Amino acid sequence: MLTLNHVESTGSKYTIYQQICEQLQELLGGETNFVANAANTSALLFQSLKDVNWVGFYIAEGKELVLGPFQGKPACVRIPFGKGVCGKAAAEGKTIVVPDVNRFSGHIACDTVSRSEIVVPLLNWGKLLGVLDIDSASLERFDDEDKEGIESIASVFLASQVTHDLPDFDEGSADV
Ligand code: SME
Repeated sequence: MLTLNHVESTGSKYTIYQQICEQLQELLGGETNFVANAANTSALLFQSLKDVNWVGFYIAEGKELVLGPFQGKPACVRIPFGKGVCGKAAAEGKTIVVPDVNRFSGHIACDTVSRSEIVVPLLNWGKLLGVLDIDSASLERFDDEDKEGIESIASVFLASQVTHDLPDFDEGSADV
């Protein structure tokens, strides 16, 4: 049974994200189920990160994102690729940090207290599985260190998915 140690809030951001990554690896263990792992990732981040009001996943389905496991207030269910911060991160395949949501054209306000946001696309061998979205009630909550840390967390989550959706390497490849 995993015991979650409370992440030291006094350490540097780098240390805090390193600790969260280690805890997440332990928490996910050998589990590969997307929903279970997304649920536990959201819960761990929501309790470990300071000053966040929403942490969750949107799952890619066709040309849109559908709400997945999350912590926080109820949120909008479907976001087309290209719309809002989530849809833009999904369409571009790049992390988007929004220091002030009121200055992001097309921002979708699910929780009106949200002031800043980060969205990391989840790419599994180039295939978009969804996005990880984190909101804060503070302006400019997420800096470059947070971006690196949250991208590392997304990598730990993705590592739990990588084994059961591998591309077909047989086609056209030489026998080794
Ligand atoms: N703000 C997001 C929508 C999702 S909520 O923040 C949970 C966006 O603009 O895509």
